[in-house]
Amino acid sequence: MECSVYRLAERRRSVRRFHSGQVSLEDVLYAVRTALQAPSGANRQPWRFVIIYDQRVKARLRMVCEQWERRFHEGRGLPEWFRRWMEEREIGWEKPFLTEAPYILAVAADKKAPYSRESTWLAIGYLLLALEEKGLASLTYTPTNPRAAARILGIPDSYSLEALIPIGRPADNKGKEPRMRLEDAVFYNMWGAKND
Ligand SMILES: Cc1cc2nc3c(=O)[nH]c(=O)nc-3n(C[C@H](O)[C@H](O)[C@H](O)COP(=O)(O)O)c2cc1C
Repeated sequence: MECSVYRLAERRRSVRRFHSGQVSLEDVLYAVRTALQAPSGANRQPWRFVIIYDQRVKARLRMVCEQWERRFHEGRGLPEWFRRWMEEREIGWEKPFLTEAPYILAVAADKKAPYSRESTWLAIGYLLLALEEKGLASLTYTPTNPRAAARILGIPDSYSLEALIPIGRPADNKGKEPRMRLEDAVFYNMWGAKND
């Protein structure tokens, strides 16, 4: 069934619990192939992807990420609104999706390329919609200490780890976060001006 980009974007949501059941590697590669079509600064295509399915590598990643998440969540620096926002969504220091999801996709950006991070996140946007098209759930998890996670995967210092993206079938029944209205986000000709 054909599905517009808008419908895919509207349907997509972040998923933090996954079924461990099989997912086709072809579907993951389809999403990466889609991401490769994204525009990038001077067409340097600064993105690189590590597709992780080895349970031992996932377990190592989870252990390191959770160590740093624990410090982050137990630290005093977190603004109160953010702490409450995470609590309401049951987002804590534990990251079960790192071992539950059949695939974890690590996305790294070449630090030397112009607009490296902007380009890489644009590619991630393409990727998320392509996963949604294949009926696959995902999350753009940004580890507290990306370098520590990158080291586990052998990612060189010249690349920054931008996200770890678990991919699989959703095992939660949470809804989508609300979005702002078009008329609150858009101005015409001048900041703050309506179209009349
Ligand atoms: C740049 C970026 C970083 C994010 N980092 C995290 C993260 O580290 N952990 C997490 O659980 N969600 C993370 N998210 C997911 C957001 O919390 C989520 O997209 C937002 O609350 C809207 O919810 P929805 O994706 O379900 O619509 C991140 C999203 C973006 C775009």
